[in-house]
Amino acid sequence: MLGVAVRGRRWQSMARGLAVGALFTSYMVVLYCLSTSAIKQNVRVALSCSHPRLGHNTTNTSHSRTGLSGECVPKMDIMFMKTHKTASSTLLNILFRFGEKHRLDFAFPDGRNDFFYPSPFLSSQVKNYQPGACFNIVCNHMRFNVHEVAKLLPADAAYITILRDPAELFESSYHYYHWAVPLTWGISGDEKLTTFLRDPGSYYTPESYNSFYLRNLLFFDFGLDNNLEPDHPLVERGIQALSKQFQLVLMAEYFEESLILLKETLCWAMDDLLFFKLNVRKNSSVSRLTPELRAKALKWNGADWRLYQHFNTTFWAKVEAYGRSRMEKDVRELKRKNAEMAAICIEGGVAVDARMIWDRDLIPWQPVGQSSILGYNLRKNIDPKYRELCRKMLTPEIQYMSELGVNLWLTHLWGWLKDTIS
Ligand SMILES: *[C@@H]1O[C@H](CO)[C@@H](O)[C@H](O)[C@H]1NC(C)=O
Ligand SMILES: *[C@@H]1O[C@H](CO)[C@@H](O)[C@H](O)[C@H]1NC(C)=O
Ligand SMILES: *[C@@H]1O[C@H](CO)[C@@H](O)[C@H](O)[C@H]1NC(C)=O
Ligand SMILES: *[C@@H]1O[C@H](CO)[C@@H](O)[C@H](O)[C@H]1NC(C)=O
Repeated sequence: MLGVAVRGRRWQSMARGLAVGALFTSYMVVLYCLSTSAIKQNVRVALSCSHPRLGHNTTNTSHSRTGLSGECVPKMDIMFMKTHKTASSTLLNILFRFGEKHRLDFAFPDGRNDFFYPSPFLSSQVKNYQPGACFNIVCNHMRFNVHEVAKLLPADAAYITILRDPAELFESSYHYYHWAVPLTWGISGDEKLTTFLRDPGSYYTPESYNSFYLRNLLFFDFGLDNNLEPDHPLVERGIQALSKQFQLVLMAEYFEESLILLKETLCWAMDDLLFFKLNVRKNSSVSRLTPELRAKALKWNGADWRLYQHFNTTFWAKVEAYGRSRMEKDVRELKRKNAEMAAICIEGGVAVDARMIWDRDLIPWQPVGQSSILGYNLRKNIDPKYRELCRKMLTPEIQYMSELGVNLWLTHLWGWLKDTIS
């Protein structure tokens, strides 16, 4: 009896998963068609934009490192390459607040919250794009394409991005995109990730739909070939190209240190760095990797592992140059300020299950078929002086983009289908 019930439930959940997966697939196919029809008319244009748009902050400060008094001036022109599953949503929230505060122009996608990922980025995907027009900030998910990005920004814009340990990233991506990657559907047992890693070659083919989520996702996001073996010369060449393109590569594992380096690079203030960790996963849904599995995950994601190690080394050289003890002091200060904000803003002081969040505007987006991403409740009776800041700090990406005036009809349509079926 019990066996039958369990099996029944398993069938039910599998059927539901398949339905959701099929739906996701057709959704992605529609999007792909929409995106490819919008392409292909772009001739080679000048590499960077040439004239500021109306509303662009033209205070002439963002183009020079030092002002009259010898003080540095805050950098306003920024390309943030938002990688997947790397704490990039937390950084996005920081950029949204910075941009709002200085009334900067964001190059946003149209209708959805990414630039037709996984298609390579094209400037024509930007809402209200006109050739030659300058924006200040580009920060939504895309498959990186430097020549197209450069068309949107002044030549001296700062390029930044964030990486995460590829083994952890793989685990996170496997969990999050499981239902979007058909090649995982046939893997049986409770330890699907372990089964996959024991012999990835027997499940994975590069041509399989959405397979990039499961191999060298960082390489893929940066527009490189995610199926290269780590010792292929193109891996090293890709890494070298990225190290020329990006001024600063942040590390999710050292998030506070990263932000302090960001502040130094962009001449920002400490208060620009305040954050709460957004899009954190429930502990119970995280598979802790054994050393054996970790080694397998790193081998399987060998190109990303080389990428990560390269930038981990340059990151710590930057910390060294900044000064170890100065860094420790600044990190302590940032943590103190964030803890202070958490006490002011967050009900109970901690992240909670999405079902426990009473304000819909603060509920984070969930992966297909699950509710594993935590969010926050805003405290009641917040000192009016902090109310606005608290709210913005706790607002998830989708809702924040709506507030910034982006129409997300495709994202909402998909969200509605996803929630209806699962
Ligand atoms: C902008 O800054 C440059 C130096 O960085 C200066 O030569 C120029 O006069 C400034 N323009 C305006 C409009 O302030
Ligand atoms: C432009 O940026 C400067 C520097 O942060 C800021 O003081 C100024 O208020 C901004 N201008 C507008 C119109 O927002
Ligand atoms: C989740 O796990 C981490 C690391 O094991 C631990 O530090 C943290 O306190 C846990 N959080 C909760 C809410 O249990
Ligand atoms: C990154 O570099 C730091 C400092 O050298 C080192 O302690 C850490 O183990 C490195 N991380 C990885 C995953 O290699």
